Amino acid sequence: MKRLEGKSALVTGSARGIGRSFAQAYVNEGARVAIADINLECARATAEELGSNAYAVEMDVTDQVSIEDAMAAVIAQTGKLDILINNAALFDLAPIVDITRDSFERLFSINVAGTLFTLQAAARQMIRQGHGGKIINMASQAGRRGEALVGVYCATKAAVISLTQSAGLDLIKHGINVNAIAPGVVDGEHWDGVDAMFAQYENRPLGEKKRLVGQEVPFGRMGTADDLTGMAIFLASSESDYVVAQTYNVDGGNWMS
Ligand SMILES: NC(=O)c1ccc[n+]([C@@H]2O[C@H](COP(=O)([O-])OP(=O)(O)OC[C@H]3O[C@@H](n4cnc5c(N)ncnc54)[C@H](O)[C@@H]3O)[C@@H](O)[C@H]2O)c1
Repeated sequence: MKRLEGKSALVTGSARGIGRSFAQAYVNEGARVAIADINLECARATAEELGSNAYAVEMDVTDQVSIEDAMAAVIAQTGKLDILINNAALFDLAPIVDITRDSFERLFSINVAGTLFTLQAAARQMIRQGHGGKIINMASQAGRRGEALVGVYCATKAAVISLTQSAGLDLIKHGINVNAIAPGVVDGEHWDGVDAMFAQYENRPLGEKKRLVGQEVPFGRMGTADDLTGMAIFLASSESDYVVAQTYNVDGGNWMS
């Protein structure tokens, strides 16, 4: 029995990386999935690869009109929205004395405002529909504790954990579950970029930071996007109906809370 049969899902930032794996997992579980991304070309290619239950939607989570248009596109395709994953995010790295206002505003605009206002639009739609829904925010172990070079990103992910709590408490009366996933270090294109930034600031050869963070994970390696899909399916399915306002660590044992 497929666990998301007949459900309509929107995954932001799902043209590649973790979002793409979530979209694939949801399609496998019987959902129709909007591959919503600022990179439409890549979203189209991903949707094509995932088959007829995936479709591409152009979406910039920093733009309110784009959020509304993406919601409208989902309704036009499937007539409803049951599941949202707020997955789109940006990373940056700089010592505190070098953080720029531009970097701060960009990251907060995508990671925090993008999460909040996409969540809000989805919640309004789910309330109109009248039969609840599931909203999953992507937090991070970076939201659990600050890191010397990662001040802004860590602050955005702490904000995502806090918003998950507030939205979870506010929306459960409508049968909408809001929860979050906090991954640790997940290998992929994103971490290739992170590794390159650490190489620059910590004067390391390329690849060294990735190797070190992987070694430090109690499980013994970096995560993969597929390591996260079980939690994403659980939080989107009826099995998690009694789970409210939580952030789950899926990080190979890096963090305990
Ligand atoms: N990779 C990790 O180690 C890791 C660890 C913890 C948390 N996370 C979180 O998991 C999520 C996915 O990470 P990832 O590694 O797959 O990242 P990624 O960089 O590979 O993918 C991000 C996607 O978001 C899209 N995007 C960027 N700006 C957008 C915007 N304004 N509107 C819509 N889409 C936009 C990009 O085009 C891209 O497809 C993020 O929230 C990230 O913070 C990742």
